[in-house]
Amino acid sequence: MRKVLVAANWKMYMTRPQAVELVRQLKEELLASPHEAQVVLAPPFTALETVGREIQGTGWGLAAQNGFWEREGAFTGEVSFPMLVELGCSMVILGHSERRQIFGETDEWIRRKVLAALQCGLTPMICVGEILEQRDQGRTLEVVRGQLTQALGGLELEHGREFLIAYEPVWAIGTGRTATPAQAQEVHAMIRGWLGENFSRAMADSTRILYGGSVKPDNIADLIDCPDIDGALVGGASLKAETFASIVRLGRG
Ligand code: PGA
Repeated sequence: MRKVLVAANWKMYMTRPQAVELVRQLKEELLASPHEAQVVLAPPFTALETVGREIQGTGWGLAAQNGFWEREGAFTGEVSFPMLVELGCSMVILGHSERRQIFGETDEWIRRKVLAALQCGLTPMICVGEILEQRDQGRTLEVVRGQLTQALGGLELEHGREFLIAYEPVWAIGTGRTATPAQAQEVHAMIRGWLGENFSRAMADSTRILYGGSVKPDNIADLIDCPDIDGALVGGASLKAETFASIVRLGRG
């Protein structure tokens, strides 16, 4: 069975003192009572080491929000995957729509990053999703299938090498407008089918597909009830301990 995973994408928020405070509050909220979901925190690069230290012993995972495919070299401003591994990261978010839209990341870049992250033993959380215009044109499934093919198509993945997919409709990110469970489930089911066709049934069954886009305590339960939604990637609502903790508690498979 696929264990529910709830990841916090802090984006470009949280200085180190703020991060320490948020993690302390989260520990108070979550460690006293058992919860089913696996928790992963993705702070900005500058707070990774601090957060890694604060979450020791909690069983929570540490993720970066990006990385570059070269191991080292003259790439001013970039951070490599081996550097992230050395900091204690086990996962990395790749291809987030903000990276694609604001920083011009192409599908080709995302593919190179996915490969390099896997080679370093990091679990990539690969983000896909359509913009509103594409949804209105009825092209959602085609667009997402195209992004999957570009990022993963034809890769020879070692058996058991884990990655996650996050379906994040761009029109739902930070807008307060969530996809309905039926809209999300339709895309998640297509993604799982695609994994089965392109890799194996076993990989399709074991790969976790997260939903992201205005996830809140009052919509997580209906989303997680869908058969192909295995967790959430949470942006805005992950910046407050109480709301993120509620989402984690409600994230039950
Ligand atoms: P949001 O962001 O929850 O604020 O919509 C989600 C994301 O960007 O991963």
